[in-house]
Amino acid sequence: MIFKQLFDKDSSTYTYIVSSGHGREALIIDPVIGNTNEYLSILESLNLKLVKVIDTHIHADHISGLKELNKRTNCATIMGENSLSEVISIKVKDNEKIKIENIVLTSMYTPGHTDCSYSFLMNDRIFTGDTLLINGTGRTDFQNGSPVDQYHSLFECILKLPEKTLVYPAHDYKGNKVSTIGQEKNNNPRLKVKSVDQYVEMMNNLNLPFPKMIDVAVPANKKGLTLDQLNNK
Ligand code: FE2
Repeated sequence: MIFKQLFDKDSSTYTYIVSSGHGREALIIDPVIGNTNEYLSILESLNLKLVKVIDTHIHADHISGLKELNKRTNCATIMGENSLSEVISIKVKDNEKIKIENIVLTSMYTPGHTDCSYSFLMNDRIFTGDTLLINGTGRTDFQNGSPVDQYHSLFECILKLPEKTLVYPAHDYKGNKVSTIGQEKNNNPRLKVKSVDQYVEMMNNLNLPFPKMIDVAVPANKKGLTLDQLNNK
């Protein structure tokens, strides 16, 4: 299997390229528009054909590469069914299969960070978007976020996976690249709560500044932007 974890320094976003091997079909998760050429050159160097691209949710801190990748490769664009993005060709529900050749991802509806947040389980690993981060969880104070929903997504869904399941988040701000469900259960301070009320209380008192790009990124990611459109803005 080809598995590449790429990092966008400006937004601390992790983007993932997945394929079963050289010359095969590929899938990208959470691409950042400014890195499109890097993704395409990696695909070219491995003789990969991009067939599907997924955003785990509407991002507030960077502009998604979905529309540009669709324009350049004609790949399918995938998000959850309640995404407000206008550039999605396949909308998935909870527990649907997304296939590229012999690789299968299972969609898991995990709202809380936003109401359109999905995670994607692939064999021994899960792409958790901003629902479960390494030693953290995604904020719940905008884009119809809900700490109650996130508590249920975490404790009744993601954390029920086997402890050795690898956790690949959409962001990390401290250089962590991968964790496991077991490590997060043991170490993640946000998961130390004893009740949903305690989780809500904690999440409602984070007092975080809004992301710098939220006023640009959210509308752009709903509409979908190509590089040309971005550069002519
Ligand atoms: Fe996010």
